[in-house]
Order: sequence, then C-alpha cells, then structure tokens
Amino acid sequence: MNHIKNKVVISIIGSGLMGHGIALDFALSGFKVYLNDVSKEKIDLGIIQISETIDYLSRSRNLDKKNILRKILPKENLQLALHDSNIVIEAVYEDLDLKKDIFKYVEKNVSSDCILLSNTSTFMPSEITENFLHPERFAISHYYNPPYLLPGIEIVSGEKTSKSIIDFLIKFYKSINKKPSLVKKEIKGFVGNRLQAALLRESLKLVEEGYVSHQDLDQIVKGSFGRRLSAAGPFELREIIGLDLGLSITKEIIPTLGNSQEISKLISSKILDGDLGVKSGKGFYEWNDKNKRNWKKHMLDWLILLEQEDKNSQ
Ligand SMILES: NC(=O)c1ccc[n+]([C@@H]2O[C@H](COP(=O)([O-])OP(=O)(O)OC[C@H]3O[C@@H](n4cnc5c(N)ncnc54)[C@H](O)[C@@H]3O)[C@@H](O)[C@H]2O)c1
Repeated sequence: MNHIKNKVVISIIGSGLMGHGIALDFALSGFKVYLNDVSKEKIDLGIIQISETIDYLSRSRNLDKKNILRKILPKENLQLALHDSNIVIEAVYEDLDLKKDIFKYVEKNVSSDCILLSNTSTFMPSEITENFLHPERFAISHYYNPPYLLPGIEIVSGEKTSKSIIDFLIKFYKSINKKPSLVKKEIKGFVGNRLQAALLRESLKLVEEGYVSHQDLDQIVKGSFGRRLSAAGPFELREIIGLDLGLSITKEIIPTLGNSQEISKLISSKILDGDLGVKSGKGFYEWNDKNKRNWKKHMLDWLILLEQEDKNSQ
C-alpha cells in the first residue's frame, strides 16, 4: 500500500462540491493531491470546506488535520497541476464541451501512462473522448456526494477503454477501502443515477396526480425501504422476501407505473419560478440557514453511523 501511496499523484480539476470532497477522500488515504480550479478564490473555498469537514469527521475518526491538509496542494495553473500526475480526475460543471476542452489540454500535458477519469453524472465515455488521441486510458469514476463518506464508485468503461486500466482502477479503489463497481457497457446516467431517476419519475407522478404529498412521500422513503436499501440492494431484498412473493407484488404494480418521457411540469414550473431548492432558499420546502445546517449535520451524522456499522460488520 505504501508503495502505491508514494507513487500515485492525483490531480483534481474543479474544486467545487465533488472536487473538494474527492480531494479530501484521497488525502485521507495518504495521497498527494493537486487541486485545480479557475481561480485562487475558488480553490481557497474548496480548501476551507475541506478544513471544516476534517473538523467534523474528527469527532468520530482520529485524524491528523495538519498532515491531511499538507497533502492537498492548490494549483491554479493547470499545467503545474498535471506535471507529475498519474491519475487526473475531472470534476467541473456538467457541460460536455467544457469537459472535452479540458481533456484536450490535459491529454497534451500529462505523461503517456497517466489515467484520465471524469466524475460526470451523465455523459458517456464515447461522448467525452470523441476527439481524444488516446481514449484507451479514459474511464468514468462516478463518485456520490459526499465522497469521503460514501464508499461506492461506479467505474464506467468505454468501448475503447483498456482492460488493464479498468483492472487497475478496481484494484486501486479496493486498496483504499472504496467499493468500486464496474459498469461494463456505457449507458446514460450509468446505474445509480438511472435508478434514482426512475424513483424520482414515479415520486413526481404520485405527487402530481394527488396520491400523496411530497412531505409524506419523503417520509415513506426515509422511514421504510430507503433505510433497508443501505443494508441490502434490490436483488438481495427480493431474495429475502422470496422471488415468488416479490413477483406477485410487482406484477400487480408494474402495469400502473408512470412511463412518461417528458420532464415533469411539477419540477419545470418551480425552476421557471426560480424555486431551485436549497440554493434559492425555496423549492418544495423552505430552506433557511438553520434548517440547511441541521439537514447537513443530520446527513453527515447518519452517514458516519453507517460507516461505523460497515466497519463493525467486516
Ligand atoms: N453534486 C453531486 O452530487 C454530484 C455527484 C456525482 C457527480 N457529479 C458531477 O461532478 C461534476 C462536478 O459537480 P459539482 O456538484 O462538484 O459542481 P460544482 O458546481 O460544485 O463545482 C464545479 C467546479 O468546477 C469549476 N470549473 C469550471 N470550469 C473549470 C475549468 N475550466 N477548470 C477548472 N475548474 C473549473 C467551477 O469553478 C466549480 O468550482 C459534474 O460533472 C457533476 O455532474 C455531481
């Protein structure tokens, strides 16, 4: 493990919500990380968030804050952020042209054995690598927020991605206690975001058609099957109740599920009104500073509890 830590240098492009979280996750595992963004102010903001998160995590983990922060090197100059890097992770806005432009520069400024990864939520490898010189060294490493508390990562292979790179990534992530899963063929939104989109489509249908309020729907998910999902996935759950019972339940429901290809009016009208959720202070719910803080604390505490339970059960 130490020889990997000494050899692997990671560059993260974009120090926003995901970029700073991924940087922290690698620094917690002892890696040197270069953190890049469009300005010093943006990188500083990422570092402040990292520092606050280390303080929060220190309540349940024994962390050497100074040492972790020393591992993360702010680099406004992208060329300097790439010069001795072995793995580059792009985490900029979800904008295909921007991602393509960045990789065009990155490809020309890294060593020939450097692995290139994107944290995109939706774009497929073939879309991002359209103009690549070497698409075989590109894959998607799709993290979930917050990366330092969620071990799951989808590794999405493109048609041209080299098998040795995929094998390396799976082994590498396992060695730092992540839970990488291979998405063997590219598909929009990969696996996790497709499953979440299916849940959201049905949730919107049920609220839009007046079956339930959004508050009660959220409560049903959080208080029932949502809790079980972090202990058992859909296939495991089916086997626990029995595939035969599972079938008799789903065969009644499947023909009545929503299958709309349209964007829900419930969401698009809120966006038109500027009601974007937490960032505008209002969406389906009202968000003031106090309930934003409380929600974040609750989410982090909950994930820390799950992390501890995961460790205890190993
Ligand atoms: N937010 C999530 O929960 C989540 C989860 C998984 C994946 N993603 C994906 O991760 C990526 C980043 O999302 P985010 O939520 O962190 O976004 P964000 O808006 O918080 O951060 C994006 C950062 O990229 C920077 N940036 C823009 N252009 C740049 C450039 N040319 N060079 C360097 N930096 C640049 C911005 O200044 C900003 O700091 C997106 O592709 C998103 O779809 C997001």
